[in-house]
Parts: sequence; structure tokens; C-alpha cells
Amino acid sequence: MRKYFLAPSIIAADFAHLAKELKTCESAGADWIHVDVMDGHFVPTITIGPLFVEALKRNTQLPLDVHLMIENPEAQVEAYAQVGATHITVHAEACRNVKQAVEQIQSLGCKAGVTLKPSTPLSKIKSALPIADLILVMSVNPGFSGQAFMPEMIERVKALRARLDVINPRAILEVDGGINSQTLQWMKAAGANAFVAGNAAFKHPRGAKVGVRELKKLLK
Ligand code: DX5
Ligand code: ZN
Repeated sequence: MRKYFLAPSIIAADFAHLAKELKTCESAGADWIHVDVMDGHFVPTITIGPLFVEALKRNTQLPLDVHLMIENPEAQVEAYAQVGATHITVHAEACRNVKQAVEQIQSLGCKAGVTLKPSTPLSKIKSALPIADLILVMSVNPGFSGQAFMPEMIERVKALRARLDVINPRAILEVDGGINSQTLQWMKAAGANAFVAGNAAFKHPRGAKVGVRELKKLLK
């Protein structure tokens, strides 16, 4: 049986009450906390940096799944490893050499992920596929939470799962962007086994506890 992971994205949480938001995620059954790092260059938005990740680490036992939407990620991965990131995912478009970036992250003792924008061809991550611990399929253009899911990424997940089954069956296939209880099920059926949720988790009309629980129930 495949193992499934739910990763609420802290970008959609209330930054003034992070410790409380983290506890809510834990008690509702979240598996990881997804952390969106944006630098204002690779994507237009600026979010958070290592100091923030360090504060998260002090307030949760959950693994921290750090998604670096930044230029020159090779220069920054060590800082995120030092403050307690357990998973670090880099964008192929931003790396000088994506395979070497994966090896660098692994040498720091972290799980290494690779990702790409929806418009970037899968060939960009080909060299990293056999060795990466995690492949992240973006189902929105990176930069903001709360965007609409891109259904054409379902085929991308299917293609990657088929390829990974052959060359790297232990790799986690994660999806990020517009994930809710409907799109989660589509991506799960396509072969994804880790699911990032920002708005669907934290902005649920009945609160984050219900939001996380509802999504987690679909992964049982
Ligand atoms: C987009 C981020 C996502 C996003 C998820 O750039 O990588 O993690 O914040 O938020 P939702 O689930 O609301 O699309
Ligand atoms: Zn993300």
C-alpha cells in the first residue's frame, strides 16, 4: 500500500498565531508542514526566510517541507538545512544543475525534491528523476496561494508516476496548487502521494481543524 502525506501550506495560515496554527495542524492529522519561500525575483512575491523556518521548527514536531521559489537556490539550501528543514525542493528553472542541487541537499542530510512550473517541460528534471527523494508537480503557476487548479497537470502526474515506477519507485510524488477535496482525489487517482493545501486547509469556512481533517480523511 502506498503511503500518503498531507502537507498544509503555512503561507495560508495566520502569521500572527503560528504556534496555534501548527498545533491545529498536528491535532487534525497533518503529516508535514509545507513552507513556501518566495524571493521576489523567481516569483513576484516575497514571503519568508530561514529565521521563520527556525521559528516553525521550535513550535512543531512535524517535518518541514520547504519549497524554494528562489533564484540560485544552491546558495541558500544550507541555511534551510541548518534551521531544520527536513525536505528541500528546488525549481529546475532556477538551478545551474538540478542533479547537483539534489545531491547537495542530500549531502546536508535532507530529503531532496525537484519541481518545475506548469509551462516547463519535464525534460528539465530528467537528470534528477532517478535520484530525487521527491518530485513536486505544480498545479498552479508558483507565486500565490488561492489560485485555480490546472487540470492539465493530471496528465503530468500520471506520466511521472509511470516513469518513477520504473526508475525510482520510492520517490514521493507531491502536488501543489489549488488542491481541495475534489482535486486531491483526481491527483491521488493519477498517482500522487503527497498533497499540499493552503486555502483548503487554513481558510476552511469551519476552521483549519476541519479543513485539514477533511483532506486527511481522503487519504486513509
Ligand atoms: C504556490 C505555492 C503553494 C500555494 C498553495 O506558489 O507553492 O504552496 O501556496 O496554496 P493553495 O492550496 O491555496 O493553492
Ligand atoms: Zn508550495
